[in-house]
Amino acid sequence: MRVYITTPIYYPNDKPHIGSLYTVVLADFLTKLSKIMGYEAYMLTGLDEHGYKIYRSAKELGKSPLEFVDEMQKYFRESWERFQVDYFRFIRTSDKQHEDVVKYAIEMLYEKGYIYKGKYAGHYCVKCEAFYPTSKLIKEDNKYLCPIHNKEVEFLDEETYYLKISEFKDWIKSFIISNKSFITPKGYRNEAISYINELGDLSIARPRERVPWAVEVPFDKDFTVYVWIDALLNYLSAIGWPDDTYKDFWPATHIIGKDILKFHTVVWPILLKMLDMEPPRRVIVHGFWTVKGLKIGKSVKDVIDITKLYVDSLDNVDAYRYYLMRNAPIEKDSELSLDGVYRVYNDELADIIGNGFRRVTTLAMKKSVVRGRVDPEVLEKIRNIIKDLNGVYSKFLPSQYVILTLKVFKQLNEYLQEKQPWKNRDENILYNALFIAKIGLTMLYPILPETSKKAMNIIGTPLKPLKYVFLEESFYVRESPILFPKIRD
Ligand code: MSP
Repeated sequence: MRVYITTPIYYPNDKPHIGSLYTVVLADFLTKLSKIMGYEAYMLTGLDEHGYKIYRSAKELGKSPLEFVDEMQKYFRESWERFQVDYFRFIRTSDKQHEDVVKYAIEMLYEKGYIYKGKYAGHYCVKCEAFYPTSKLIKEDNKYLCPIHNKEVEFLDEETYYLKISEFKDWIKSFIISNKSFITPKGYRNEAISYINELGDLSIARPRERVPWAVEVPFDKDFTVYVWIDALLNYLSAIGWPDDTYKDFWPATHIIGKDILKFHTVVWPILLKMLDMEPPRRVIVHGFWTVKGLKIGKSVKDVIDITKLYVDSLDNVDAYRYYLMRNAPIEKDSELSLDGVYRVYNDELADIIGNGFRRVTTLAMKKSVVRGRVDPEVLEKIRNIIKDLNGVYSKFLPSQYVILTLKVFKQLNEYLQEKQPWKNRDENILYNALFIAKIGLTMLYPILPETSKKAMNIIGTPLKPLKYVFLEESFYVRESPILFPKIRD
């Protein structure tokens, strides 16, 4: 089976921060985990480059929008690379191929009679690139503030084109209700349904003179396409739609933050339905990382720059990936703490994983090769630890997955403690310890890819899908490094 996993495409008006990193790391985790579970998995990420927000940021810096996004994109690519994120395509909405797909889709919707001209008067948050009804805004000193950014919204009164999404209210409601696995975690299903009740038609065009940096509406050159419609279509243009190649990928699994739930679970499936496309397979939603309760990246400016973070504090990208997955139940918001990163680094990465690995490789490197048979008792213990793996995968529970992996390493340490292979020179004991380490290191791959690949290499076994990991093989160990040197103890 092929799995097509996407992240939202990022606004490149700022450098990526640890909140942006979270969505990408979760998507990469799911991609790598799918691979070791034996699936073919492809991940898409990229940048949402059009729209007023980018246009304005570029203007403030005295740059052209294209010049600005060309400069900003490298921060995202470099960061994702540094954090070992594997994607098959990094899409930019300014790619000509993507722009052509947007025009094609808008034309198709127009021809099908889903688009009509109208006027729009309402409050607009530039940071969200979205309109808000007055009832959703915060009123302060006669000003209206965006509920997410706490910043004053703008009042716009202009001509536009509307997409008749309200015609599909009943359809989307019954789709969400009858497809229980469409939205994960399930707590977000009710929230999605609550958006449907108040759903009106969607304004999908902007006057070109106000937002020139966007795709032109193909049937009226005085207008440009609303940035969210442009952005959502990236999930299709990246896989070649409308050419048949898209069929090898679609339907997608989207990973998103909770702030963009409405667009992904209500607007997007309706848009797809209008284009005669199947809805996404699944939308996985996560909460925010906060500092003192505020969403990082929005109101909080410190700890935001991940391009500096790993240089200034702990120089181990795997430790951040580990912390993000270990400490955050995805259905809730989590408070970021650098002390928390150090704590899991010392207590779990160094003391449990690194220590087990170091002990077993120190003994094994004294032999040119370690051969043996897996002890049925060891096998049973391991199988018992990972029996919930399929559930953890299908329910998407990253922190539970980290705990399972940690249990394998705890088992390794217990086994070494019990059998004391440094006293008892039975090669089979060492073999079994290396076998447990191999399972643990394979499971570590989606969490700590850099460490996992390095350590697998040291014990002389290549990374492979979990079902092959149980096959017996010999180990050739040449080194015994400290994977996670302790810090600030
Ligand atoms: N461009 C839109 C998405 C279009 S997808 C068709 C957008 N971009 S964004 O840059 O603002 O956000 C990208 C992702 O980062 C979202 O999933 C968002 O929830 C996530 N995060 C940004 N800050 C975050 C935290 N502080 N914590 C966790 N994730 C947050 O929205």
